[in-house]
Amino acid sequence: MTTTYLVTGGAGFIGSNFVLYMLDKHDDIRIVNVDKLTYAGNLENLKAIEDDPRHIFVQADICDKQAMRELFEQYDPDYVVNFAAESHVDRSIETPEIFAQTNVMGTVNLLNVAREAWEQEDGSYPEGKKYLQVSTDEVYGSLPLDDPEAFFREDTPLSPHSPYSSSKAASDMFVQAYGDTYGMPINITRCSNNYGPFQFPEKLIPLMINNALEHKALPVYGDGLNVRDWLYVADHCKAIDMVLSDGVVGEVYNVGGHNERPNIFIVKKIIEECSRAVDDPEVTESLITYVQDRKGHDRRYGIAPDKIKADLGWYPETKFEDGIVLTINWYLDHKDWMDNVTSGEYRDYYEQMYSNR
Ligand code: NAD
Ligand code: TYD
Repeated sequence: MTTTYLVTGGAGFIGSNFVLYMLDKHDDIRIVNVDKLTYAGNLENLKAIEDDPRHIFVQADICDKQAMRELFEQYDPDYVVNFAAESHVDRSIETPEIFAQTNVMGTVNLLNVAREAWEQEDGSYPEGKKYLQVSTDEVYGSLPLDDPEAFFREDTPLSPHSPYSSSKAASDMFVQAYGDTYGMPINITRCSNNYGPFQFPEKLIPLMINNALEHKALPVYGDGLNVRDWLYVADHCKAIDMVLSDGVVGEVYNVGGHNERPNIFIVKKIIEECSRAVDDPEVTESLITYVQDRKGHDRRYGIAPDKIKADLGWYPETKFEDGIVLTINWYLDHKDWMDNVTSGEYRDYYEQMYSNR
């Protein structure tokens, strides 16, 4: 029988990679992809599957109850995979309200509509239904730099600092509450920083690639020693697929590849690999510009992925040294994509953002 996935935010970075990954990996599936198409959503990301009848795109807001109800009625999804979110920490510092609206209220709306559609008279749920919330390691807060053996585990208390991570933590708690209170079959995945194709260039890696290739300043926040745990996006997609099919209902799974790097290491690696790829003498470390630090900047994120490895057999397949070259080559091969997303509204945002620093 065909399995139907309701994927939200599937025109964004990770969501579009997930939709492409799933359609490539599984034959007998159908994906209903619902996305509001904010500045971060882009139908170009889905061009490779525009003629695939297994993919149905619907432009809608996850906060819109009527629209979500109609999707459940029309398609009767087996799985809901909620990627839709406002996802950029810097934007959350400027405009927290939209993060509360989409990330918290949107999640609660989806949970309500799923419950309405799935819950049976005796309070049970049909076999095979599941709601998966795509969350982030940022909900755990920040780790110290001087204790490299400290990691985020599934039972680490939530301690978010930014408006973005606070909104994600709040939505995780609602998802857990729907599991605990209404018996809804849920999973939560908490992944570390992703990189790869289709990532919007407000995030560190694509921003640095784009700026380096254009000989623009590379703005490093603070001392550049903040640490993030980088995972190639296809490995995250694989983890979500495995949690959907084999994850124990009600459980949280941390996803990460033990690939912690200081930001300045990442920036220098991008310069090295970009200058190798384009053989351009102007792509040098002289482009690095230290700028004012982000407010409330979390120092270190580090995931312990022991549970998903031991229980589901997941492991990251792409080494950072390979993934970063794949990513740079992808951006070099998709200059039109970058030109499109960096024109108009984004250019204004970028100029305003960095004129303040
Ligand atoms: P993104 O910003 O690239 O994409 C978000 C997508 O959601 C866009 O297509 C946007 O149009 C859509 N969207 C926004 N508001 C919506 C709404 N109200 N209704 C419907 N669609 C809406 O984000 P991303 O980096 O792909 O992240 C996807 C998810 O994964 C988010 O929930 C994020 O918190 C989580 N996550 C991201 C990372 C990362 O490193 N990027 C790591 C861990 C978890
Ligand atoms: P980002 O990609 O925004 O992800 P997150 O804040 O969700 O981890 O940033 C990754 C790291 O890079 C973070 O420590 C902030 C830093 N950073 C810079 O130094 N310069 C930049 O221009 C950006 C966007 C981020």
